[in-house]
Amino acid sequence: MDKKAREHLRSRFQKEIDKTVSQYVASIPFDWRLYQQDITGSIAHAKMLAKQKIITLKDAEFIISGLRTIQEEIERGQFKFKLELEDIHMNIESRLFEIVGDVAGKLHTARSRNDQVALDLRLYLKEIIVETVEKVGSFQQALIRVAEANKKVVMPGYTHLQQAQPILFAHHILAYFEMLQRDAERFQDCLKRVDIMPLGSGALAGVNYPIDRHFVAKELGFSKVSANSLDAVSDRDFAIEYQSAAATTMMHLSRLAEEVILWSSAEFGFVELDDAYATSSSIMPQKKNPDVAELARAKTGRVYGNLIGLLTIMKGLPLAYNRDLQEDKEALFDTADTLLASLNVLTGLVKTMKLSDTRMKDVMSSSYILATDLADYLAKKGLPFRQAHETVSKLVQYAISKGKRLQELTLKEYQRFSPLFDKEAQQITLESSLAGRNVSGGTAPEQVTLALARAKRLVSKNDAGKTN
Ligand code: ARG
Repeated sequence: MDKKAREHLRSRFQKEIDKTVSQYVASIPFDWRLYQQDITGSIAHAKMLAKQKIITLKDAEFIISGLRTIQEEIERGQFKFKLELEDIHMNIESRLFEIVGDVAGKLHTARSRNDQVALDLRLYLKEIIVETVEKVGSFQQALIRVAEANKKVVMPGYTHLQQAQPILFAHHILAYFEMLQRDAERFQDCLKRVDIMPLGSGALAGVNYPIDRHFVAKELGFSKVSANSLDAVSDRDFAIEYQSAAATTMMHLSRLAEEVILWSSAEFGFVELDDAYATSSSIMPQKKNPDVAELARAKTGRVYGNLIGLLTIMKGLPLAYNRDLQEDKEALFDTADTLLASLNVLTGLVKTMKLSDTRMKDVMSSSYILATDLADYLAKKGLPFRQAHETVSKLVQYAISKGKRLQELTLKEYQRFSPLFDKEAQQITLESSLAGRNVSGGTAPEQVTLALARAKRLVSKNDAGKTN
């Protein structure tokens, strides 16, 4: 037990803290991860105190060199984190006392753990968001790569998971590119609200020293300082926004994961996962399981849970700081870890999966996927679309009853349903169907080529450092 630190904190108490209590209130088992941010923040604070002559330059230098030593100790694994010192802030401060002596006590001038922890979290999230946007970018690159490598592959497009109309596989994959593009933009936008420096708010009311908040903000690379001290120590909106953007991204990853799971089944057979990204069954030797995709789908649930958890923690808190806020961290770290890992592994999975274009063609050849094109054909000849739809639906019914595909019906048979049908109706193919959908955002090869070029431009512009 660290006597000195305990004395500082508990000088008005007459009893030792109960062991169960010290365990219950400690955050060090998880907030040790903020050591880097805590030390960086403290160094900036010490520099500012010296610049403003609140402490001497010599004291600041002592403090800063002590903090650097602590950082090295932590990084070398030599630092002993102590539960009874509650959190990362107290652990570092207490060790600072051991290294530099009583001058360590000057570091906490004009600061409270309340603005300190808000600062640490903001520094942490700024880094995480930059890393997330980078990883989203790599995932988007992988999507572009598969789309490009399979540019000519035609697949059935679905609504209600029923074959609807033929589409280019690249078009399907680029739909995910768009989702991830919005995700990247959401993170970049959220960064604006994270990028606010709270130090100087003190415990809740501001501090009564001539501090220079803008200097600290500049030292730490923040663009703004917080405008209200009560808000600054009790606001976790920025973490909620990040969690919400993370939940949305996981939702997108989960939808793709679900498709990969379906596509890799024998029933679909559209893709084969690379051995390095598949798992085997302990009992059924024939199996190649998409566990990675399944886990991405499931982990989405815990990321949602983390978001709801934080929203719930916040909803009844009176101003300003409450210890409830300590519960923001585990879930936040878990979301960041889960999202980054999911992006990483799915990038590899998507990059290495192999498509079976013949299988995709096969499943379309036995279906009536060109029925809409046939209805459009009649409509273009002047038949109101609703009537054209009805005519083709009767034609399809007839073909099914004869066990024939649409291409196998004779012109006579077609004409029994409408005199508007002629030879051209029999020449509608997957290719002509695709080429016909030549509107911006459509699946025509010409449009998909444009979409790929657009995707490449966008992904090269996704610079996480930019906040606008
Ligand atoms: N470990 C605390 C947290 O994460 C640090 C702030 C503690 N402040 C306090 N007044 N007890 O929120």
